[in-house]
Amino acid sequence: MMKSNMNIEIIDNLKRNFREVYGRHYEGAYFAPGRVNLIGEHTDYNGGHVFPCALPAGTYGMIAPRGDQQLRFYSLNLPESGVVSVELGDLSPGRTEAWTAYPEGVFWAAQKEGFAIPFGADILFAGDLPGGSGLSSSASIEVLTGLMIQQTYSLEDLTMERIARIGQMGENTYCGMQCGIMDQFASAMGKEGHAIYLDTDTMEYEYVPLDLKERELIITNSKVKHSLVSSAYNDRRRECATALADIQKIPAFAEVKSLCSINEEAFEQYKEQILDPVCRARAEHVVKEEARTEKAVSALRKNDIETFGKLMNESHISLRDRYQVSCPEIDFLTELAWQIPGVLGSRITGGGFGGCTISIVETESAEAFMGRIRGEYEKRFHIRPEFYRAWPWEGAKKLDV
Ligand code: GLA
Repeated sequence: MMKSNMNIEIIDNLKRNFREVYGRHYEGAYFAPGRVNLIGEHTDYNGGHVFPCALPAGTYGMIAPRGDQQLRFYSLNLPESGVVSVELGDLSPGRTEAWTAYPEGVFWAAQKEGFAIPFGADILFAGDLPGGSGLSSSASIEVLTGLMIQQTYSLEDLTMERIARIGQMGENTYCGMQCGIMDQFASAMGKEGHAIYLDTDTMEYEYVPLDLKERELIITNSKVKHSLVSSAYNDRRRECATALADIQKIPAFAEVKSLCSINEEAFEQYKEQILDPVCRARAEHVVKEEARTEKAVSALRKNDIETFGKLMNESHISLRDRYQVSCPEIDFLTELAWQIPGVLGSRITGGGFGGCTISIVETESAEAFMGRIRGEYEKRFHIRPEFYRAWPWEGAKKLDV
C-alpha cells in the first residue's frame, strides 16, 4: 500500500476501459477504502464498540448515467464475469449470486429506503485490495456504490452515515451475510491518522489519533479463505442471540438489549443461565471483548501501546478458543508473531475463518518480522504470505480525475 493512496495505474485502466467496455466517457470517479479492525471483534452486532481504521487500499469506480432503466456493472478484477446488466425494477434479494450482488444490493436498499433513482447507469470497478482477505473489499464496493448514488442522483439526504447503513442493509438482505455496521462505517467515515472508536449501540463515534511513534501496523495476509464464511458468521450471530435470550429470562436482565451491555461481573454471576455451553462461550467472548476494547482505547489515549498490544493478544486467544473463528494458519501467524522481538501485539482481524492478522511491530524490527514469518509460514503451509505496512486512511471520496 503506497503512501499517497491514489493508484494511478488503476485510474488510468479505468479510464481506458470505461471507453472500451461502454463506448462512452465516464462522468464521475470515486474511491472507497477497505478497513482493518484493531480490536473489538464480533461486538458490532452485539451492541458493542469497535475500533477500526480505513486503509489506503480499496475500490475505485467510474460511473456515467444512462437514459433508460438499465444498470450495467463490470469489474476489471473479474473480467471473466463480463458486463452484468439488470433493470432497476428487477433488483431483488436472491436475484444473483455473482459479485454484482454487492452493488446491486446497494441500489436496491437505497430505493427501499425511499431514495429516488430515476434512471440507470454504467459502472466500472477496479480495486487494489486483496479480495476475500478480511480487509472488507465487499464493504468498499458497497460504500463506493452508495457514494456514486448520492452524487449521480443528487441525493443530499444520503449522508455518509446513511451510505454505511444502506451498504450494510444491501449486504444483509441482498447477499445474505448478516454483517454488522463496522466495515461499511469505517469505509465511509475513515480519517487519516486516526482509528474510529464507534459505539454500535448509539452510533456515536470518536476519532482517536493512532500515533504509534516508532512502531507500525503490519497486516499479514494468510492467503487462506475458508468456504462457508458467511454461514459460519451467521451461526455466530444466532448463537449470540440465543445466549442473550437466556440471559433475558433472568428478571433483573429482562430489559437488557444486547450482550455488550452486560458487564463482566454480572456475566460471571449469571453465565450458567446460558444453557448451551457453545452459546455461553460465544457470549463470554463478546462480553470480555467489549471490556478489552474499552481498556485498549484508553491505553492508546495514554500512549500505552504495550497494554494495547497485550489486549490484542488476549483478543486473539478469545477469538480462537471461545468464538472459534480462527484457523490453523492464522493461529500459526499470530503465535509466531508473539515470539518475535519487537512485536507488541498480534491478532486475527475481521470476520475470521482465514484472512489477515494485524500486528503492531517496532519499525526497526519490521523487516526481521516479515522475513521470519515468511520463512516459517512458507515452510509449514507452503503458502507465501503477503504483508501490507498499513496506516489509517480517509473514508470514501470523489476523485478529481
Ligand atoms: C465482519 C463483519 C463485521 C464484523 C466483523 C467481526 O467483518 O462484516 O460487521 O462483525 O466481521 O468483528
